Amino acid sequence: MVKVLPTSRATHEQARVDNASQYLKRCYVAERQSMRTLAAWFVDTSQWDFKRQLSSDMWQTTRHADALRTRVLELRYPRRDVDRKYDADILNLLAECAKGRDTFELIGGVYGVLLPELMRTYQDYLDQTDPLDDAPTVYILRHILADKQAQVERMRALAAEVMPELFETTRDWQDYLRVWVASIGGIGGLDARGEKPDGHAGAGRQDHEVGRSVQRDARWRPALFHLPHENKYDLEGRKAWQRIEALDKRVAMQVWSAISHFNEIWAAEVVAASMWDFDSQPWDFYLDLARWSWDETRHSTMGYRALEGWGWDVPELVPWGNALYNAMGPMPPIQRLALLYFYEEGLLRAGTKQIELKILESAQDGGAAQDMDFDWADEAIHVSYGYTWLRHLLGDSSAGREELQRLTEEARDILARFVQAHKDDPEAKLAPYFDRLYPVVEGMLREIPDDGLEIAWAPVVADTGALEET
Ligand SMILES: [Fe+2]
Ligand SMILES: [Fe+2]
Repeated sequence: MVKVLPTSRATHEQARVDNASQYLKRCYVAERQSMRTLAAWFVDTSQWDFKRQLSSDMWQTTRHADALRTRVLELRYPRRDVDRKYDADILNLLAECAKGRDTFELIGGVYGVLLPELMRTYQDYLDQTDPLDDAPTVYILRHILADKQAQVERMRALAAEVMPELFETTRDWQDYLRVWVASIGGIGGLDARGEKPDGHAGAGRQDHEVGRSVQRDARWRPALFHLPHENKYDLEGRKAWQRIEALDKRVAMQVWSAISHFNEIWAAEVVAASMWDFDSQPWDFYLDLARWSWDETRHSTMGYRALEGWGWDVPELVPWGNALYNAMGPMPPIQRLALLYFYEEGLLRAGTKQIELKILESAQDGGAAQDMDFDWADEAIHVSYGYTWLRHLLGDSSAGREELQRLTEEARDILARFVQAHKDDPEAKLAPYFDRLYPVVEGMLREIPDDGLEIAWAPVVADTGALEET
């Protein structure tokens, strides 16, 4: 026998550093894969309200994964292992979650099962751990829980508006995923394990692949392009636009920047698709691309908010094109990023954003100027993301730089050929939009003193022939 004092307090047997780091690493992997799933399904979702939320939740999920990953590393975890040896149960579960047949199943599965299960996993941890010894984890999990709770509530409220029967009609799929979670002992892996739902109707689907083409929300007419600089063959469209320009170049910039922002959704899609296509890049790659993609959704939402703010019937008056993403469909993922980088870098180098901002200030459009100001701040970050990750993917060498140049030129050419191949499609014509828009814009004009600003400005285009005067 030996002598000891009684323990000063009761503790939970799981609440030790090794257990914590293993448990939280499973959570990190679950969040990391959820992030990629939300990114892919953001691309594959056309309904605009759902699409926005998927994008926003994708970005928040990245923050959650990052906080967990950082905490795992603090918990005496070998740095090399945090992004190796991912738990196969978690990877397989998340691969199943991505296999929704459509947006509705995906949402039913993620918001009806995956997120509630993650929340339970975090709550179980909080119930067991010591709030003093493990305070940094407690802080992180409380914040993640608050975010997840808000995500689920927001999505349920949105579904109630957009598709009230969503969670009802996807019940079988939710049931399948719930059994799947139970079969691996929960996301934390500490519960008793159940049977795998192999005989369930939801079992045996192919792995999800992110779409190579996108559709726009069914409330809009099908459209390829959104402004005349995209399609140099659409002379009628250009003329119809010039009527708006003739009202005042400031007016044209107000309309242009709102329509253009709204249509930036393609950039969000290209980046999000890369988050799915590239599955084993360094963690910072996903961290940066998630922010990049969500920023572009925010820019798109800025445009939408401005258009709605004028009281316009946006689907009636504003084209919402899908040509940019769809023309890039056949390209390898890296080439899509290279083309996006070409645009972003070109805008920044030409100072286009500053010029646009000046014109919007001259129009005394406070909302548009504020949007453009923050957009410009975001775009400067995107250029550094593009520079960093293209260099990482292609190699930091002259061969890598030449390859980037080659990919970019080929992509511009593919885009130009896409435009030529579709120039006569009815969806390529912009004149009907600007003809409908013209009287609406004209009817809203107000007069302000002329500040004498010289207005000269040109967009960045893949095919420079599009800027030639007709
Ligand atoms: Fe943008
Ligand atoms: Fe950008």
